[in-house]
Amino acid sequence: GPSLAYEHADANTLAELRDDAQSCTRCDLYRNATHLVFGEGPGAADIMLVGEQPGDREDLAGRPFVGPAGKLLDQCLDEAGIDRDRCYVTNAVKHFKYQMRGKKRLHARPNAGEVQRCAWWLGAELELLKPKLVVALGATAVSSLLGSKIKVMRDRGHILHPAGKPDVLVTIHPSALLRIREATEREKGRLAFIRDLTKIPRFLR
Ligand code: URA
Repeated sequence: GPSLAYEHADANTLAELRDDAQSCTRCDLYRNATHLVFGEGPGAADIMLVGEQPGDREDLAGRPFVGPAGKLLDQCLDEAGIDRDRCYVTNAVKHFKYQMRGKKRLHARPNAGEVQRCAWWLGAELELLKPKLVVALGATAVSSLLGSKIKVMRDRGHILHPAGKPDVLVTIHPSALLRIREATEREKGRLAFIRDLTKIPRFLR
């Protein structure tokens, strides 16, 4: 299962933790990334959103979910009645993993080892934020937070109660919607994602 030895982090605040993370070499992804993309949002947020890893745009900006997937996420949250600014937004993996295709940096999936190394930071963020609800966006966030027994397409829309940890809402990653070519199918997927997100507001104070 995921290794969450975050009790050894010595940061007392999320700001300190973010500073500590900047020099992370727990896995090799720091070597080719521009920025480490740490979580951001209110330190007293009730909701923590967890994506996979920064994309090209996030790597350049040093901020999570500012590219196309982020725009779509913001829109869907809005339609579900949630203000993103009230959420703490982070990723399972904090550096962009990619492969070059010509001049383009194409997203590459982080492997289990990279996810596990980075779960240390995610665990520390959880420990300091103590959110009421964690929203796992897609398979990487789900496996980092809940292990390999939980499956996105089987368990989406459900709130799970892992022992000793905050509740977790399982849903898809907004990037999955961007990959659906057919407009009617994409809209169906978008509405199903918004339906999952409507489970969030009851956790907001
Ligand atoms: N996809 C993610 O999972 N996270 C980001 O920050 C951006 C895109």
